[in-house]
This record gives sequence, C-alpha cells and structure tokens, in this order.
Amino acid sequence: MAFNKISAGLTGFGSSLPEKILTNQDLEKMVDTSNEWIIRRTGISQRRILEDSTPAFKLGARAAKDAISDAGLEPGDIELIIVTTETPDYLTPSMACLIQNEIGAKNAAAFDLNAACSGFVYGITVAGQFISTGYYKNILVVGCEGLSRVTDWKDRNTCVLFGDGAGAAVVNAVEEGYGIISTQLGADGAIGHNITIPCCYASEEDNKARECDNKSVIWMNGSEVLKFAVRVMAQATKDVIKQAGITIDDIKIIVPHQANVRIINGAAKRLKISDDRVYINVDRYGNMSSACIPIALDELMKKNILKKDDYFVLVGFGGGLTWASALLKWQGGS
Ligand code: UT7
Repeated sequence: MAFNKISAGLTGFGSSLPEKILTNQDLEKMVDTSNEWIIRRTGISQRRILEDSTPAFKLGARAAKDAISDAGLEPGDIELIIVTTETPDYLTPSMACLIQNEIGAKNAAAFDLNAACSGFVYGITVAGQFISTGYYKNILVVGCEGLSRVTDWKDRNTCVLFGDGAGAAVVNAVEEGYGIISTQLGADGAIGHNITIPCCYASEEDNKARECDNKSVIWMNGSEVLKFAVRVMAQATKDVIKQAGITIDDIKIIVPHQANVRIINGAAKRLKISDDRVYINVDRYGNMSSACIPIALDELMKKNILKKDDYFVLVGFGGGLTWASALLKWQGGS
C-alpha cells in the first residue's frame, strides 16, 4: 500500500533495555545446552532480562520519553500512542495507557496492537494512515516486550532465544516524497499454531506441550518458523521495493526483525545483498519480538549511518503467523 496524501515519517527515536544480562554461559547452567550450540544455530551471545519487580511498561516509557525529546516534542504534544506488544503487563489497562500515564501524555488516545514480532511495522503503518489523512499530527509508536515473562525456562528449544527491551519512534508529517513510501502487511492464521502463547484459554494440546508449571508460556515449532521466516522476509522486502518502482540496489540498509542470524543471512542471500547492508544486533539482545526493529533503528540513527535521500527497509515476521515490510526514504535530521 502506497502513502500518497500527507507524507508521514519517523522523526524521533528512543530505546531502553534492562541492565541484567543473561549470557549463554548462564543458560548452560539452566538447561542442557552450550554456548557453542547457541552461537552456531542462532548467533545470540547474550540477552537482557527484566528484574522481577520491574514491569515492562517502564522500559517502554523510557524509550518513549527519549523518542519524544529526539523529535523536539513534549509528551503533551502526542495525540495517539500505539504500543505494539505480545507480552503486555496487563490485558487491561493496556500498555499504551500505562505508558501514557507514566510519561504524562495527557492529550493522547492510547491502544495496544498485537501482531507479534511484525508489530512495529504494523504500528507505524497504522500511525502513518492517521498522519496521511491529517487526523493526527504527532503519534508515538512503542515496541515494548517482556519476553522473559512468557519464557519456559525448562525448554531449551525456546529459552535461549528471547530477551526483553523497548524501542520507540515518533511518527509525524515530513517533507513530501520522504518518510514511509510504502508498506506491506500480511498474515496467515492457518499456520498460526507454530508459535503459541496461551492467555485466557489453553487447550489440552497446549498444556501438554509446556514443560514448566506455568502454561501461559511460549511454545514454538522452530524449524517450521525458520523456513517460513527466510521465505517471507525476502519476499516482503522484494514486494515493498517493487511497489515503489525502485530496486534492491537503491537500498542503503535493511533493518530486519532479529530472531536468528541464520534467518537474516538466509534472507540476505535470497536478496543477493552483502551482509554489511543488513543491520544486526541479535548477538547482544536475542529476540525481543516487536521491540527488535525500533531498538535497531535507534542504534542506526545514533550511528548516523543514513544520509538524506537514502532508502531503507524495515521487515519483520512472527507469531500469527504475520509478516510486514516498510520502505522509507530518510528525510534527514533527527
Ligand atoms: O520471532 C519469531 C519467532 N521465532 C523464530 O524466528 C525462531 C525460528 N527458528 C529458529 O531460530 C531455529 O529453528 C531454532 C534456533 C529455534 C532451532 O534451530 P534448528 O537448526 O531449527 O534446530 P532444530 O530445532 O532442528 O534442533 C536440532 C537439534 C535437536 O536435537 P536432535 O533432535 O537433532 O537430537 C534439538 O533437540 O538441536 C537440539 N536443540 C538444542 N541443543 C542444544 C534444540 N535447542 C537446543 C539448545 N541447545 N538450546
């Protein structure tokens, strides 16, 4: 879908991570695994984990404040807060309402959006529509996740993969022809059973699959998701670029969802692009679901890698199963 009225772009960035680090060596003491296996199969060395006493929304609020200030705004200027999450602290109040209160964004409407790891790209697409029509001027999108809270710490297939974190971006109007050029959102509920986190209901089958006492933890058919991920990441990137009438050679950098370095490298190979044109930080943080892309974006902006007129792509996939890609043209600044 192309954005063709008021141009909407990302104008401020922020991120926040818990201080506590869980290394592969720590995991060796918890389950039957090894640092060597985790690095070879995933590329992950360590991840950040929330302290028991800290709700995830506190991370989201910190990321949000930084993004708002980076955009040159005050919390009172924000008219809508969209929080993308599959690990809300509460089903109600929403993470968006908790963050609204924490940062004092008194004038903002607020809601959560769950498209799992594809959430942030879904979120900026929704925000972009409100900007594009002139309905709102300043929107905050926060990817905020506490995956450690839904991790089965007895399941070596999943517990080595996830981490906690939050990233945020402000979406508002930018110079015509810049910002979000096009996005593509997709979902296939028929294969949704490959990643599940039961909440208010769990089937017999769900309960049997879980090793620990808490049945509201993540379960995943990793190898099925891996095959799906490599295919959709490459295809969704190609589609969003083609829609804009440009080619992969015009793209400065791709910021993918950070689930596994093998998935990222596999998609890059299909796209025939070199590794230095794909942003990777999964080694330091693991998979933080919808927080991965905005955290990577904040790092990218702080490194001043993008110059005005550069095209870049955000692409994610995950539970649902879902996928989403966005092509942006950097307007400069920040
Ligand atoms: O954000 C979106 C959601 N998630 C993902 O994108 C994850 C997608 N999937 C993956 O990243 C990979 O499938 C995994 C990293 C989860 C697993 O890698 P894999 O190459 O697909 O391994 P596998 O599941 O086929 O397992 C291979 C072997 C098995 O042993 P056997 O049956 O061959 O004896 C597993 O039991 O590795 C074993 N294994 C482990 N061994 C040591 C699984 N987890 C571990 C572990 N340490 N942590």
